[in-house]
Amino acid sequence: MKSVTVLGSTGSIGLQTLDVIRKNRKDFTVAALSCGSNIDILERQIREFEVKTAAVFDERKAKELRARVPARVLSGLQGIVELAKLDSADLVLNALVGSIGIRPTVAAIEAGKNVALANKETLVSAGVPVMERAKKHGAVLFPVDSEHSAIFQCLNGENKGSVRRLIITCSGGAFRNHAPADLRRVTAADALKHPSWNMGAKITVDSATLMNKGFEVIEAKMLFGIDYDDIEVVIHPQSIIHSLVEFADCSVLAQLSNPDMRLPIQYALTYPARVGSDCRPLDMAAVKTLSFSPPDTGRFPCIRYAIQAGRTGGTMPCVLNAANEVAVRAFLAGKIGFMDIPELVLKKLDGHEPCMNPDIEELLALDERIKRETMHELHMEREPLPAGVI
Ligand SMILES: NC(=O)c1ccc[n+]([C@@H]2O[C@H](COP(=O)([O-])OP(=O)(O)OC[C@H]3O[C@@H](n4cnc5c(N)ncnc54)[C@H](OP(=O)(O)O)[C@@H]3O)[C@@H](O)[C@H]2O)c1
Repeated sequence: MKSVTVLGSTGSIGLQTLDVIRKNRKDFTVAALSCGSNIDILERQIREFEVKTAAVFDERKAKELRARVPARVLSGLQGIVELAKLDSADLVLNALVGSIGIRPTVAAIEAGKNVALANKETLVSAGVPVMERAKKHGAVLFPVDSEHSAIFQCLNGENKGSVRRLIITCSGGAFRNHAPADLRRVTAADALKHPSWNMGAKITVDSATLMNKGFEVIEAKMLFGIDYDDIEVVIHPQSIIHSLVEFADCSVLAQLSNPDMRLPIQYALTYPARVGSDCRPLDMAAVKTLSFSPPDTGRFPCIRYAIQAGRTGGTMPCVLNAANEVAVRAFLAGKIGFMDIPELVLKKLDGHEPCMNPDIEELLALDERIKRETMHELHMEREPLPAGVI
């Protein structure tokens, strides 16, 4: 029996994680759950899974929930960090969105826990020090992102030295067929209609700008230690092949399935075992065509900016992520246009003199500073916020 803490249990990945656990109740218990503010869903989850400890980022909502459930309810970022370290959990699944996920990931690693990592911003903003910590504490990071799970599965039992290339597939996002002029007119509602995946709002916009794919290249570099020159991205609109690995002999292994995030989530929870699932089996005759093309980095420059920031390294990816989090938030709020997102991110990258080998605290301080500056420039003034929160 494995005991799992789910951070961000009320979001898209969190809900699907609990769905996987619900179907495998004899193998898993839930140690703890957290949300930002959505306490109605969290309350139902606490009752269903008989959870003894929970955390709510919003202090007021945490207080409200305390009066409603027979569980210990922690609050704020500190409460979520405490949750990540709980003795009762064997595995922490981090499904928080944004760089708010960094501290809980680090806390779990330092407590010697394995982490199933959906929160990609952790590895984008602070990949090098996080991977160093995982190595030091002997913690395993299981990828939840479907592309990295696919690569992880293809590498299973292989010698990493024999890898020639990683090929990361990409659906192309909501606007893959839009002309440049049309991209200037799209709205947040348009961007939220992803053609193949049903995900949280932030990652859906990141998919539309292709920033998400740039993030995934950085993530792949961090997780698998493959050079940027040996990581390729291909547009594959059917989202059936989740990624591929080419080996020294030019053999290519791929992982395929119908698009369903419960599959990579389940593999991260059950690894190395494979167990039955409710995912729809793949009918290759019905799929008929699997097509591939290179990404258009002219129409979607975010992918280029992200890979360049990754190549530069140091503090650059942290700036990329922080500027992007604010830009996406502004786009979703209707304050800026879709093509203002890459412009804003580029401006912050161009204005930054990168420092090499930053530690986690330096990165968190930089994350906060870039977010504040960008919000100020966009007239999105708010109360002082802790690192990671926008
Ligand atoms: N969704 C996917 O299919 C998918 C695929 C691959 C990777 N990922 C990655 O997985 C992560 C989660 O994505 P998602 O789509 O599940 O996001 P989501 O649906 O927006 O859910 C985010 C979760 O984080 C919580 N949260 C938000 N802000 C918070 C804060 N300041 N403090 C504490 N908790 C906070 C939310 O709580 P409330 O509900 O209370 O707001 C919710 O539980 C992201 O890094 C994303 O890139 C997602």
